[in-house]
Amino acid sequence: MKILIKNIKGLVQVRDKGLKWVAGADMDNLPIISNAYLLLKEGLIHDYGSMTDLASLSADEVIDGTDRFVFPSFVDSHTHLVFAASREEEFVYKIKGMSYEEIAAKGGGILNSAKKLQNTSEEELFDKAMTRAHEIIGFGTGAVEIKSGYGLTVKDELKMLRVARKIGINSPLTVKTTFLGAHAVPKTHDKKDYLNLVINEMIPAVAEENLADYIDAFCEKGFFTPDDTERVMEAGKKYGMRPKIHANQLSISGGVQVGVKTGAISVDHLEAMGQEEIDALKGTEVMPTLLPGAAFYLGTSYPPAREMLAAGLPLAIASDYNPGSAPCGKMSFMLSLASIKMKMTPEETINASTINTAYAMNLSDSHGTISKGKVANVFLTKKIPSIAYIPYAFGSNIIDEVILEGRIID
Ligand code: NIG
Ligand code: FE
Repeated sequence: MKILIKNIKGLVQVRDKGLKWVAGADMDNLPIISNAYLLLKEGLIHDYGSMTDLASLSADEVIDGTDRFVFPSFVDSHTHLVFAASREEEFVYKIKGMSYEEIAAKGGGILNSAKKLQNTSEEELFDKAMTRAHEIIGFGTGAVEIKSGYGLTVKDELKMLRVARKIGINSPLTVKTTFLGAHAVPKTHDKKDYLNLVINEMIPAVAEENLADYIDAFCEKGFFTPDDTERVMEAGKKYGMRPKIHANQLSISGGVQVGVKTGAISVDHLEAMGQEEIDALKGTEVMPTLLPGAAFYLGTSYPPAREMLAAGLPLAIASDYNPGSAPCGKMSFMLSLASIKMKMTPEETINASTINTAYAMNLSDSHGTISKGKVANVFLTKKIPSIAYIPYAFGSNIIDEVILEGRIID
C-alpha cells in the first residue's frame, strides 16, 4: 500500500532520524517544508520533499493536502488509560472546595478507582479502555504509554497491564506499558507490607508475563517517599523495567533526584520545582515531562517551563489521561495549556509532544518526527491558517485525517 499526500501546505517536524530530542533554545525551532509531498509505503515513511521535486509517482491512494498541514502523530508518553469508571462525583466535591488530598483521604481518589477496577472483568475493562484508545486516535495520537496502578493487588495489577498490552495488539496505536503498583497504599495493608508485596510479588509476576516496559511510583507526600520510590525503581530495574516516575506533583517530593539517581527515562508532573530540581536534571538523560491537564484540572500551579527551557533542559508534554486528575486525552488541548499557562511557543509545544515524548517512551527510532524509515503515523489538519492556530483554537478539533501504520483510519 502506497499513499501519496501532495500539495501539503506545511509538512511539520521533518528531521534526521538520528535526533533523540530537542532542548532549551532549540525547542523553538520546528522544521517545516512548505508546499510539500509525503509518500508512505508499506507502513513506513518512504519519501518526502518539496512539490517542485516530486517526480510523477504512482500510488494506491492520493490525498490532496492543499491548505492543510501534515504532522507526525502525537506521542502521549504518560497516561492511565485503563480504568473502570469516571469520577465526576469527586469533581463535584472539588468544585465545593475539597482538595485532592482531602478527597483521597475520604476513600476517594486512587483507592476509589481501585475498588471499581477490582470489580470489573478483564473483558469489560478492555472494552472501556479500547473506547478511549479510539477516542485518542481521533485526537491525533499515534503512540501512547499506559500505566497500571488502579489494581493494587497482584491479580488486578496484572489484569490492567494485560488490558494495556491488548490495546497495543488490537489497535493501530503503538503502546508501551508501565507498572505503577506503588500508586497508593490500599486499605488492606500498611505501607511497609504493601511495598514488600509490590517488590517481592507484583514485580516478578509482571516480569514473568512481560507486561511492563517501565516501572513507576507516585513519589509524593502521603504516598511514597524518595526512599520507597528508589527501592521500587531498583527492584523493577532488576527485571529490565526502566524507571519513569511521578515526581513533584503536589510538593517538592525528592522524586526528581530519585529519577536522576536511578536513571529514569522521564520524571513526570513537575508542578513543584525549585532551582535544585532544575539543576539536578541538567546534563542527564532524563526527560522532564509536563502534564498540564492535571495542573488545569486540579487547579495547582503549572511547571516552570520557561525557567526549565532557559536552563537548557528538554521538555515533553503528555496528557496524563486518567479519571482523577486529568480526564482528558486530547493532546492539542495540552498544547494550548502549555502555551497559554506556561508561555511555551507553538513550536516548543509541538516539539514537546512529538520528538521529546517519543524519547520518553524509547520510540526515537520509529516515532515523533517525519523521517525516512519511521512508522507512517501522521495526521492531516483541517484547513488552518498556521501551526500557531492549533494551541490558539483551544476548543476546536483541528484533526482532519489520521493515518497510522500506513493505513487511513476511519
Ligand atoms: O498522574 N498522581 C498520581 N496519579 C494520577 C492521578 C491518579 C488519580 O487521581 O486517579 C496523576 O495525576
Ligand atoms: Fe499520572
